[in-house]
Amino acid sequence: MSAKILLLPGDGIGPEVVEQAAAVLRRAADRFAIDIELSEADLGGIAIDRHGDAYPPATQQAAREADAVLMGSVGGPKWDGLPAPDRPEKGLLRIRADLDLFGNLRPALLYPQLAAASSLKAELVAGLDIMIVRELTGGIYFGEPRGIHRLENGEREGYNTYRYSEREIERIARLAFDTARRRDNRVCSVDKANVLEVTMLWREVVERVASEYSDVELSHMYVDNAAMQLVREPKQFDVIVTGNLFGDILSDTAAMLTGSIGMLPSASLDANSKGLYEPVHGSAPDIAGQGKANPLATILSVAMLLRYSLGRSEAADAIETAVSAVLDRGLRTGDIASPGGVVVTTQQMGEAVVESIS
Ligand code: NAD
Ligand code: IPM
Ligand code: MN
Repeated sequence: MSAKILLLPGDGIGPEVVEQAAAVLRRAADRFAIDIELSEADLGGIAIDRHGDAYPPATQQAAREADAVLMGSVGGPKWDGLPAPDRPEKGLLRIRADLDLFGNLRPALLYPQLAAASSLKAELVAGLDIMIVRELTGGIYFGEPRGIHRLENGEREGYNTYRYSEREIERIARLAFDTARRRDNRVCSVDKANVLEVTMLWREVVERVASEYSDVELSHMYVDNAAMQLVREPKQFDVIVTGNLFGDILSDTAAMLTGSIGMLPSASLDANSKGLYEPVHGSAPDIAGQGKANPLATILSVAMLLRYSLGRSEAADAIETAVSAVLDRGLRTGDIASPGGVVVTTQQMGEAVVESIS
């Protein structure tokens, strides 16, 4: 039976990078005799424009039926004036919740060829290999009550609620410990347990789960310190587990250590092996439509899709090797180029990866 893969190109540079990543997926499927069936649907701003809904019913149905989803990015200035519930970003939050994709894996891996592109000194990032495990369907992103209301004195007040249940903390902690077992057996849980009750509970539950993983070393760190440590000595980390908002912020920080946010893929997983795969970056309106976007984060997301949802690690490895080979040849999009170096387009980069898959 063929694996159903749904493409959600989205907005801005999304369609540009997904086009290249889909070509890589087709090539890898061909090369490794993987039976796939690709289809496409609208999510985000384009879905608002075409259907009046950022996550329309047809997309929802296709997403539920798919074995895996590959997304580009959503959002852009055109829709920035909309209220929170109607924005393109809400479409992304809705699909994550709808598919119960609570576990977001965001690997920050330095390709040695890009050491010079990192904003940190080469010796600080050489060999960098961090996995951020971000909780994705709870926390302050989803907590109720939320909104903007008017106070008695006439001024308005905005509010969100930061909450986590024990069950939600437990399942993300388990994912982090299981992930660490396949790596260096170390988990650092990042919280704000010196101030926020919700993360005091987080810390307690993570400790409890840790007792079932005596082979994994657990440490705790406050989020402010973690942000600092990530740029001071990033190689001290193996797996970082954290809540939705902290994980969003720390993964963009970690991205820059690898040279560019254009290099960071992600997998958002449910309790089985269904997943949504997307680059960590956004729709980059400043470079959209110009062929400047780095497609490698999305291409590396295809590798994660093959590994986690389709169980085809040999094809995933081949894509990662092809990316490395292309970097070896000196191909660079603008975001990872060295000063004065030759810059290739999104399409040239994508085609080079396709050709390198052997
Ligand atoms: P962004 O990630 O889109 O862009 C930040 C900077 O990084 C920009 O200078 C951009 O040009 C650059 N950049 C990003 N991806 C790149 C790539 N592949 N190649 C080269 N350069 C790249 O973040 P932003 O500007 O804060 O947000 C823009 C829009 O994207 C907003 O509407 C935001 O809500 C949305 N967004 C969506 C997602 C998502 O869909 N998962 C993620 C983040 C932001
Ligand atoms: C990300 C993005 C999203 C998030 C937005 C667009 C909803 O920043 O995937 O990192 O905050 O989760
Ligand atoms: Mn983000």
